[in-house]
Amino acid sequence: MRTLVKNIKELVGVESTPQLRKQGKEMAQLETVKDAYLLVEDGKIKAFGPMSGLKEVNADCVVDAAGRMVMPTFCDSHTHIVYANSREHEFVDKIRGLSYEEIAKRGGGILNSAKATAAASEDELYDMAKQRLDDVMRMGTGAIEIKSGYGLSTESELKLLRVIRRLKETSPMTIKSNFLGAHGIPMEYRGHQEDYVDLVINEMIPRVADEGLADFIDVFCDQGFFTVEDTARILEAGIKHGMRPKIHANEMAVSGGVQVGVKYNAISVDHLEQMGDAEIECLKGSDTMPTILPGCAFFLNLPLSPARRMIEAGLPVAMASDYNPGTSPSGNMQLVLSMACIRYRLTPEEAINATTLNTAYAMGVSDEVGSIAVGKRANFYITKPIASYEYMPYAYGENKVERVFLNGVEI
Ligand code: NIG
Ligand code: FE
Repeated sequence: MRTLVKNIKELVGVESTPQLRKQGKEMAQLETVKDAYLLVEDGKIKAFGPMSGLKEVNADCVVDAAGRMVMPTFCDSHTHIVYANSREHEFVDKIRGLSYEEIAKRGGGILNSAKATAAASEDELYDMAKQRLDDVMRMGTGAIEIKSGYGLSTESELKLLRVIRRLKETSPMTIKSNFLGAHGIPMEYRGHQEDYVDLVINEMIPRVADEGLADFIDVFCDQGFFTVEDTARILEAGIKHGMRPKIHANEMAVSGGVQVGVKYNAISVDHLEQMGDAEIECLKGSDTMPTILPGCAFFLNLPLSPARRMIEAGLPVAMASDYNPGTSPSGNMQLVLSMACIRYRLTPEEAINATTLNTAYAMGVSDEVGSIAVGKRANFYITKPIASYEYMPYAYGENKVERVFLNGVEI
């Protein structure tokens, strides 16, 4: 099966020499081809280049992209889309002055979601999550990481992870699963949370590993949630069972989360609203992708992670949606791209790399998605007629994606 996309006004995010991630100054490099073609064969990118170099090809399907950009689909490396209820009442409480931590302390927040999620069946959770997945796919997301974490009991966590396994089996998207049993401390463990940590280590992790349900192991390592010591113990247990760390760190406080993540070779440390010089130093030379979640900082009015300082220090930066009912009820990566430029002062080139190649790295799939390169999956979108790729972050709130192709097939 061959598909030819021709007359592309500009083909964006091409790589002649594919890299696994872009860091520091490299983040400003975004190769494009003007007046281009893209040839897809059996779901993979076969060739691309200027129209002037296109030889006669027999294609089963020809798409004319005149006046339009073609871009690699977004990779969203941090989401929590398996949940039962929205939380707009807490949203109103926050407007009236309560903080996220205060709501969590009184049993709201993650525990509120866990209660509703425990009561929902696997089929109900699957249907809700599939709808969210299809919605973000139509907005241009092609790969996604999905966490458990609204279970907080062994059976409920397994239920969520089985939903993610079904999503992997039924969706054309590239999906990775992350076991986040240590997301919140259930009420009955308050005051002795080490017993909950023991449950995660001794019961949950072995069961999750037995069923092969998780690619990654996550912990909400932060003030008021899990400590650095809890995190180290859980990550060690996860690693023993074949899961690579990928954690929540430094959202509420400079908590040692970045250091513990780097120590255990986390593929990414995520949030990073609270970053000192020591955190930036510690990330240098590591294989860990610092990942910022602009939607969460926007929704909770948190300080902004120092993205520019990190890039100027030579680090890579990734940006993901954090799609979840409590701190970022949107998985719109077009909006994340806009916030990357508007709020964090990334250039459009840096922002595109931060939401495609670097997020692909942060979920361990940058060898197969995240850019337009020969041999990678043919995951791309065709924009509506627009004048330049800078229009993508500029026109925030507008859907600029017209057609989406995953593995060479239009969805
Ligand atoms: O990434 N920070 C921890 N977990 C989620 C929020 C979960 C919730 O409030 O439901 C996050 O922001
Ligand atoms: Fe999160």
